[in-house]
Parts: sequence; structure tokens; C-alpha cells
Amino acid sequence: MRVAVIGVGRMGSRHADNFAKGAVPGAQLGAVCDIDPEVRAKAERKWRVNAYADFRDLIDSGDAEAVVVATPHYSHVEICKYALEHGLHTLVEKPIAVTAKDAAELISAADKHRDAIFAIMYNQRTNPLYAQAKRLVESGRLGKIIRADFTVTDWYRSQYYYDMNGWRASWSGEGGGTLINQCVHQLDLLQWILGMPQDVACKCRTVGRNITTENDVTALFGYGDFDCSFRASTHELPGVNRLEIAGTKGLLTVTRGMLTAKLLRMDESEINARSRRDYGNKEDKKYRTVRKFYGIGNYLCDAFYGQQCRVLRAFVAAAEKRDPDLLVARGEEGMGALSLINAMNMSAWTGAREAIPVDADAYAAALAEKIEQERAQSPKQ
Ligand SMILES: NC(=O)c1ccc[n+]([C@@H]2O[C@H](COP(=O)([O-])OP(=O)(O)OC[C@H]3O[C@@H](n4cnc5c(N)ncnc54)[C@H](O)[C@@H]3O)[C@@H](O)[C@H]2O)c1
Repeated sequence: MRVAVIGVGRMGSRHADNFAKGAVPGAQLGAVCDIDPEVRAKAERKWRVNAYADFRDLIDSGDAEAVVVATPHYSHVEICKYALEHGLHTLVEKPIAVTAKDAAELISAADKHRDAIFAIMYNQRTNPLYAQAKRLVESGRLGKIIRADFTVTDWYRSQYYYDMNGWRASWSGEGGGTLINQCVHQLDLLQWILGMPQDVACKCRTVGRNITTENDVTALFGYGDFDCSFRASTHELPGVNRLEIAGTKGLLTVTRGMLTAKLLRMDESEINARSRRDYGNKEDKKYRTVRKFYGIGNYLCDAFYGQQCRVLRAFVAAAEKRDPDLLVARGEEGMGALSLINAMNMSAWTGAREAIPVDADAYAAALAEKIEQERAQSPKQ
């Protein structure tokens, strides 16, 4: 299968490299597209494939049966819609779109063209530790969930990173900051493992960077029976990465490289009922510890090909067999994290707890206002 990459900047060029060097079985690089003439010239020299300036020309050319879209966020919907409507299998980089309103439009277009496979690049889902966490929660081994906390402050980004491309960390260019760019991965994991929360209260700050969007987030998601705290930033060093989920039958933690689950023999309610001691019976409180490591094989694979390559491989396999069940994540699954992000931004702007999902039109209007303000005051423009 010939796969084309649209947008061959930092991420797209890594995808193109993987296709070109045969790291994705059954696929070869068919063509590339980029609006930047220098990038196109370099791409033609490097990969010896056609390099188009306009995504429509590439899609109409017949050079590819599938595309990977790795352009800045606002262009995802238009490009993916065009590709799907022309029968090309389409893998979109995260986020699916900037607003839930636009994402819904794309998902509805994909629905009408089910002959083409539609997928999203949620490479963090290929981390076996998060997959194991999901299995433990869904199997009921942790009991009823009573608390969750996710802290991700180890995805450091310098001012140099923000200055590399004008679209980064702006409302007009990117549609947000750390929430829509980095946290989209962890927010996807959160809703993948725990399901969608009902509401959120969120506070955003900009710390130590000349950007107009947030790089520091504190949020509390309401799940009805329990709350989940979410803390993320991209300015802290050395930073921490820790998911913790407590249930009535145990405690689960995932840190970089390791999952630890402490599994009780009985539910806490039973321990409480049986207890004739103030701090609970020692014997009843005993637990079994299960550990899982990320593993050298995964570290090596990430070092050679990048974690994203596993998503590329699943995408090509799904496209070849016309079987979306082989995907790491279907395109429409991009809506979950985006809904959370839209609600978190809305809460940060209004200062109020917001229901999830927020009204899509109201969010689009509030974002348009943010862009207006940015254009009037932006330190970047
Ligand atoms: N999955 C991951 O881990 C991961 C990591 C980094 C970036 N990303 C995502 O990849 C996408 C691109 O990010 P990046 O860091 O590579 O950005 P980038 O700015 O380095 O590259 C984007 C490229 O797209 C080109 N482009 C812009 N508009 C275009 C259009 N309409 N048609 C064709 N080309 C166009 C630009 O000229 C540029 O070369 C974003 O969605 C980003 O969130 C994902």
C-alpha cells in the first residue's frame, strides 16, 4: 500500500522516514505534501517521491491509497474530510480538531465513507502499562473506583520550542497550548481507562514562557461517585509522570516505565465490616503486589522507530484488511479527549465548573473571542 504524508515537519517527517525505510510492513512512501517550498525540495531529495504543495493535488494524483495528516491542528478537518471523501484511508495526528463542533463534522463525513479506514494517532495507547491499567479497572480487580490522580509535568518545553514554529501555543495557530498539544494524550488515556467524567473545574496559567496560551493546568474532574485530579505542566524540572487510581479493592500506579498494582483479597467494605480493631484487622489489609515494566523491547522499538510507528503499523494492517478493529484508535475516538479539552478551557475562562460536553457552539464562539483578543494583544504577532 502506498501511503502519503501530508505535512512533513517535525512529526510528519518521522512518519515519512518510517514508511521510506520499510518499518511499516505492507507499506511504502507514496508521496508527500507540504506548503513550505524548502521542506518540499528537501523531501524530494531525501525520499525521491513526488512532493505536492496542495493536499488536494496529492489526493487527486493517485500516488497513494492512504494518507497520514501531520499538519497544524486547524487544518486537520479540511484535509481529512477531503481524503476520506476521495476514498483514501486516513490517519490523523492528534488532536482530531480544535473544537468538538469541527470534530463532529469530520466524524460525520467519515461515517458516510466507511469504505475508507479513519484512525487517530494516539500512540500513548500502545504503552502496555496503560493497557494493563485499563484491563485492571474494567475487570473490576480494583473494585469500585474511589479516587484518581494524574500528574504529568515531565513533558518539558523550552521557549525555543515555542519559537520554532509560529503556530505553536497560540489560540489562532494551534487552538490552545499544553492542553491540546501535549495533554491530549493523557486526557485520552484518562477517558479510555476511566470513561468520560460528567464535569470539570479547571484553572490554567502561563508560567515563564512568552506564549498566549496555558502551559500549566490544574483540573478536577467529577465522575459522580469519585473525583479525578489532573495536573500538567511543561515548564517544571525534573517533573513527574504518575497515574494513580484507587478502588475499594486496591491501588494502581503507573509511573514512567512501571505499573504497580496492590490488590486486596477482599473489598474495603468487607474489611470494615469485619474489623474489631480501630485501624482495621492487619490480616484483612494484606494485599498482593503485581508489577509490570515497560520493557527493553519497547524502549528499543521507540528509540529506532518512535512509539508512533506502532500506530502506523496498525493503521496499514487495518486498511489492508478493511478491519477498523485492528486500529490502535478509531478516528471518532478523537472526540473524547477533545471534549475534555474544550470543557477545561471553558471552565478556565468562565471560572465556573462546566458540564461535559460543553455546548459546542458556545465553545466555538468563546474561542473566536480568544483569538480576537490574542490578535489585539499577542506578544508573538
Ligand atoms: N503523536 C505525537 O506524539 C506527536 C508529536 C508531535 C507532533 N504531533 C502532531 O503532529 C502535527 C504536526 O506537528 P509538528 O510538530 O510536526 O509541526 P511542524 O510545524 O513541525 O510541521 C507541520 C508541517 O506541516 C506543513 N503544513 C502546514 N499547513 C499545511 C497544509 N495545509 N498542507 C500541507 N502542509 C502543511 C508545515 O509547512 C510544516 O512543515 C500536529 O497535529 C501535532 O500535534 C504529534
